[in-house]
Amino acid sequence: MIPKVRKAVFPAAGLGTRFLPATKAMPKEMLPLVDKPLIQYGVEEAINSGISNIIIVTGRGKSAIEDHFDVSFELEHNLETRKKKDLLKIVRDVSDMIDVSYVRQKEALGLGHAVARAKDIVGSEPFAVVLSDDVIDSEVPCLRQLLDVYEFYGASVVALMEVPGDAISAYGVVDAEPISHNGGRDRLFRVRNMVEKPKPADAPSNLAIIGRYVLTPEIFHAIESTPAGSGGEIQLTDALKYLLRSRPVYGYKFEGTRYDAGDKLGFLMATVEYALKRQDLGKDFRAYLKTLPL
Ligand code: UTP
Repeated sequence: MIPKVRKAVFPAAGLGTRFLPATKAMPKEMLPLVDKPLIQYGVEEAINSGISNIIIVTGRGKSAIEDHFDVSFELEHNLETRKKKDLLKIVRDVSDMIDVSYVRQKEALGLGHAVARAKDIVGSEPFAVVLSDDVIDSEVPCLRQLLDVYEFYGASVVALMEVPGDAISAYGVVDAEPISHNGGRDRLFRVRNMVEKPKPADAPSNLAIIGRYVLTPEIFHAIESTPAGSGGEIQLTDALKYLLRSRPVYGYKFEGTRYDAGDKLGFLMATVEYALKRQDLGKDFRAYLKTLPL
């Protein structure tokens, strides 16, 4: 029997240097897309994919994340007295959403290192990893798409996206062979090798790993066996490469649109798209955009 994935780890201890100075005192994960922090989009995606336990890896200066998912008695009392029922519901829904556990990464030593900090809470179960600065708009939640593959093969699965040209060197890149799945051969891949941030000429393909993973617990041993790599950090891609020696790893080209909201341009794109889709704002925002002399 293939064990069920119940837990999702949210590494949120990075320094967010691409978004300075906003991230000097505020976690990148709390940047709002319209009116919801990035991490809440990720948590909602996980819940809508069937995940029941959320583990957030935080670091120094990240207490706003804990406060966000906690009960805010003062605010609730204030809204209650002012009879602001709609706002009260929005605030309560966040803290009622799910039970969240926190673990600390004292120093930002890399994504692999951050994931390893969750080892004691995850235990010997398969688990998901969600990088909440990758915001994904899709009909079926991206994590659900990966879990469907995991539930079929019982092996680790990474989300893949085609990245054109030199931009590929900002990602972990796979060398992978397409395999038949659901009557097609264009979405699922068996990974042969992977490399973190290759020079464009050395990239084994145009298929980049983006921030959604389903991992089997052997990854923890793989991370412990992985020395610091690109940027002096312990990279999850390097640990996955180690895992490949003994376990299959699959890649799934997910259906949907991904925004790199940890990057200023990506964040602006996501803001415009999400605002245009909003029932309460979309019409007026579109009308405003049309007045701009672009
Ligand atoms: P990024 O590569 O986006 O790094 O991390 P960063 O530090 O957050 O941001 P920049 O590049 O300096 O602007 C990808 C994910 O891994 C987490 C981040 O919080 C983000 O969700 N991460 C990264 C950690 O939790 N710990 C680390 O040591 C590094």
